[in-house]
Amino acid sequence: MHEFCNAEYFESDILRAEDEKISKYSEMLNNERYFLNGLIRYLKPKKMLEVGVAGGGSSAIMLNATRDIDDSILFSVDYLDKYWIDSNKKTGFVITDYFPEFADRYKLYTGGDVSKHIEKVGNGVELTLLDTTHMHPTETLNFLCILPFLNTNSWVVLHDISLHFFNEKSLACKYLYGHVVSENKISPTSDFSHSFSNIGTFQVTDLTHQCIENVFMSLTIPWIGWDDNWILSDDFHDIDIIIKKYYDSSLYKIFKDSVCFQSKMQEQWKKVPNSEKIERALYVINPKLCLKIKKSIQRNERIKNMILRYL
Ligand SMILES: C[S@@+](CC[C@H](N)C(=O)[O-])C[C@H]1O[C@@H](n2cnc3c(N)ncnc32)[C@H](O)[C@@H]1O
Repeated sequence: MHEFCNAEYFESDILRAEDEKISKYSEMLNNERYFLNGLIRYLKPKKMLEVGVAGGGSSAIMLNATRDIDDSILFSVDYLDKYWIDSNKKTGFVITDYFPEFADRYKLYTGGDVSKHIEKVGNGVELTLLDTTHMHPTETLNFLCILPFLNTNSWVVLHDISLHFFNEKSLACKYLYGHVVSENKISPTSDFSHSFSNIGTFQVTDLTHQCIENVFMSLTIPWIGWDDNWILSDDFHDIDIIIKKYYDSSLYKIFKDSVCFQSKMQEQWKKVPNSEKIERALYVINPKLCLKIKKSIQRNERIKNMILRYL
């Protein structure tokens, strides 16, 4: 058994002392916060990276867990300048407002995908927390963009690897955790009623690099977010630059072909009538209810015409 298997219980006092303040804004459950804390206490990293900051709850856990480690620094990157839950607050406000003592060990970059900022972070990252949209392919692309900057034998923590139990669209972290190859993948005891944990960590080893095609190939799994057209956005320019620069041409080709394939899928999806989209969505949530509604609509022409007016 790996020494991190019980990381959620390791040196938990250091988090407990601040957890009342942190848990208020943290988007992590109890065992997830303590798991992240314990892992950092074990590893004592000097250079940490966080992708997906929000208010800064997880930044606070990471900085607090390194409060007695000389020269330890956290680089955090978030797509948004403003806190996604309350736009009156800035991304990372938890550190400025509640933990100003950590400010000189905290370097926050906001505005755009992590690919836009990763070269400023530079290499030598020893521990990473990846926690962004949870909609495929975001976390996979995030990981491919940061991997060249992570130390071999460093650790990556992935949050929300079981979020699809609550939202069937949130599969990105599950895909990445499943497809990345590593001799060491560890997750704590679950806080949920089922036995699957929602947080996990894996070590970036030589094998991870040797088998990275596995992660590239997961880009062929259908992408979520087509309706927002985001795959045509500027972010792809930044992602393209990093993938082209840091991977060989055969891997870059998988990335390019996947973007092309997913763009075509997006075009096809746009042509699907709204009524069919709603039916498909409903079918995923509750197939039996969907069939019942369909049958009763078919029986009643008046209701059908009424509903179709709104679709
Ligand atoms: C789930 S929240 C992060 C929660 C935070 N880690 C915590 O535990 O308190 C997700 C954040 O990821 C950011 N995000 C989404 N896509 C991103 C990307 N491609 N690069 C960087 N940040 C991203 C969002 O703006 C949002 O603030």
